[in-house]
Amino acid sequence: MIHILLTTLTLLTLSKGITMPANDLSPEVKTKRQATYPINSLILNRWSPRSMSGESMSDEELLPLFEAARWAPSSFNDQPWVILYAKRGTPEWNLFFDLLVEPNKTWVKNASAILVVTSRETFERNGNPSATHSYDTGASWMAMALEGSSRGYVVHGMSGFDYKKARTVLEIPEGYTVEAMAAIGKPAPKEQLPEGLQKIEAPSGRKPLNKVAVHGKFPKK
Ligand SMILES: Cc1cc2nc3c(=O)[nH]c(=O)nc-3n(C[C@H](O)[C@H](O)[C@H](O)COP(=O)(O)O)c2cc1C
Repeated sequence: MIHILLTTLTLLTLSKGITMPANDLSPEVKTKRQATYPINSLILNRWSPRSMSGESMSDEELLPLFEAARWAPSSFNDQPWVILYAKRGTPEWNLFFDLLVEPNKTWVKNASAILVVTSRETFERNGNPSATHSYDTGASWMAMALEGSSRGYVVHGMSGFDYKKARTVLEIPEGYTVEAMAAIGKPAPKEQLPEGLQKIEAPSGRKPLNKVAVHGKFPKK
C-alpha cells in the first residue's frame, strides 16, 4: 500500500516537472544560512573553510573534482578553462605556493592541492574573441567546488596572489586569462587555524534575493 502511494506521489511529481530539493543541510550551515526559498542543499552546503589537515590526496580523490569542472556548460561548448595544479609533496608545489599573498599562505600550507585556473580568451574553433570565456570558466570552477564540497573536501577560491608572477612562473601564454587560484584539501577542526581565522571560519550570508535578480531594467540608484 505504502509502495503504491509513494510510486503515485513520485509519478505525480515527475509529471509536473517538479523535483524536490535535497534537504540535508550540514550542522554549521543549518545555523548560519537561511534561503528565501527551499533549494538543493548542495548549493547551501558549499562554503569556503580554511582549516585543512595537511594530508595528501590521491588522484582517485582529487581528479573527480576536475572531472566535474570538465562537464560545465560553455558558449559553443568551447570549454575555455585550463586548470593548472600542484599536489603537495611534489616539486611543483612551491611554484604555486610562492604565488600567494602571506595571509593566504598561513592556511594554504595545509592544502592537498593548489590550483591556478586559466581561461582561453578566443574560441578554439575560429579564433574569434569570446565574450564569455571568464563566465564559462567560472561555471567550471563552481562545478568543481560543488563536487568537492559534496565529497567533504575543502575547495576555497583565491584572488590573493601575484597574477603577473603566475603567468611567468607557470609559463601561461598570452591569450589565456589568469582567472583565480584555489586550494583543495581535507578538512580539519577550526581550532587548528590561527585565532583570527578561527573567528571567521563559518558559512557566510548573502544579499537579499531582490538585489540579485531584478525583473526588467537595471535598477536606478
Ligand atoms: C574568485 C575568488 C577569490 C577569492 N579570494 C580569496 C582569497 O584570496 N583569500 C581568501 O581567504 N578567500 C578568498 N575567497 C573566498 C571568498 O571570500 C568566499 O567565497 C566568500 O566570502 C563567500 O563565502 P563562501 O565561499 O564561504 O560561501 C575567494 C573566493 C573566490 C570565488
